[in-house]
Amino acid sequence: MIVEEIKAINFRNYEELNIQLHPRLNIFVGENAQGKTNIIEMIYLSSMGKSFRTSKDQEMIKINKSQSYTKVTVKKASSDAIIEVRLDYLQKKKLKVNQIPLTKNGELLGNLNVVIFAPDDLKIIKGGPVERRKFIDNEICQIYPKYYYTLNQYNRILQQRNKLLKDYRNKKIDLEIWNQQLIEAGTTLITYRKKFIKRIGILAKLMHRKITEEVETLEIHYDSSVPFKEKDERNEIIESFANELKSYSDQEWRRGSTLVGPHRDELIFKVNGLDVKNFGSQGQQRTAALSLKLAELELIKGEVGEYPILLLDDVMSELDIKRQNYLINNLKNVQTFITTTMIEQLKAVYQDNRYVFNVEKGEIRKRD
Ligand SMILES: Nc1ncnc2c1ncn2[C@@H]1O[C@H](COP(=O)(O)OP(=O)(O)O)[C@@H](O)[C@H]1O
Ligand SMILES: [Mg+2]
Repeated sequence: MIVEEIKAINFRNYEELNIQLHPRLNIFVGENAQGKTNIIEMIYLSSMGKSFRTSKDQEMIKINKSQSYTKVTVKKASSDAIIEVRLDYLQKKKLKVNQIPLTKNGELLGNLNVVIFAPDDLKIIKGGPVERRKFIDNEICQIYPKYYYTLNQYNRILQQRNKLLKDYRNKKIDLEIWNQQLIEAGTTLITYRKKFIKRIGILAKLMHRKITEEVETLEIHYDSSVPFKEKDERNEIIESFANELKSYSDQEWRRGSTLVGPHRDELIFKVNGLDVKNFGSQGQQRTAALSLKLAELELIKGEVGEYPILLLDDVMSELDIKRQNYLINNLKNVQTFITTTMIEQLKAVYQDNRYVFNVEKGEIRKRD
């Protein structure tokens, strides 16, 4: 898929923006704090219905304005999509696809697929388990709306169950109904995650071997809080979940919180057999993150039928020339957005087939 056009009004530091994009490569160049990432954020917002850097939608509205508007035109093999997002200080966020208002955020998912690679993504490798769960969730939600709805449902059940575990600490009421709901929704999440992690693992391993010229092997393991075997189906996972809840019951009452379920899942990344979080060099961690992102592209292509958009925010100049070249040469069919402070460092992108935009104080000018 290709983003053909972006329009924005009162979004971050842009009063008005109107750009036509190149189908292959778009580079945004400018000093710090000029509005480069804001462009990336507009595209991400149109894909996911939220920002990747704030959970407060209103932060994206230009200061001293009451409303922001973005319109992103997407050309796809299947059906085109015009995605409009209106953020308002006083009203609910309004989403439209092809002029039709959406009633739920989840309905937006799947209209525009993106893979984003930003400096913060190193946290997927280096940070805590929350970062890795957020990564899995965001990726699966983009492909399967059902996962998105189940995740919301699971989180609601979890909150209620945690509250009961706290409130009835001394009486210990029967939690069976809550357990069943938790297990039902939780097992759906685990099943999706199991499949996703297996596939992204195979793809990331391939990417990693190519990037490291066969020197390193990356493996991704799903360390689920509910034990299961590779061949296990839904019923077996449900059974294991129930058993686990039983054995943790006393501890749960003592601690007043749910100790079993996908909210406690973990992902482990290993390079040449060692946990890259603790034992990897900075370079290995970066390469692992890059492989993961490239794997995502392929995974989405496999599921959705076409490549998503790739957003590279401030990460290119951190890669050496070899990796830059690898990226650019391997992404011939992927529309790519790159932001950078120094285009001179992007040796690999000295080619004709691209647009370069100068970004300065919320104004964009296309270079000749
Ligand atoms: N809601 C907002 N209203 C107006 N300006 C904003 C808003 N949010 C951020 N900015 C401005 O946007 C700029 C940062 O944009 P960003 O795209 O992150 O910069 P960079 O070019 O470094 O990627 C800063 O100048 C910041 O003051
Ligand atoms: Mg930036």
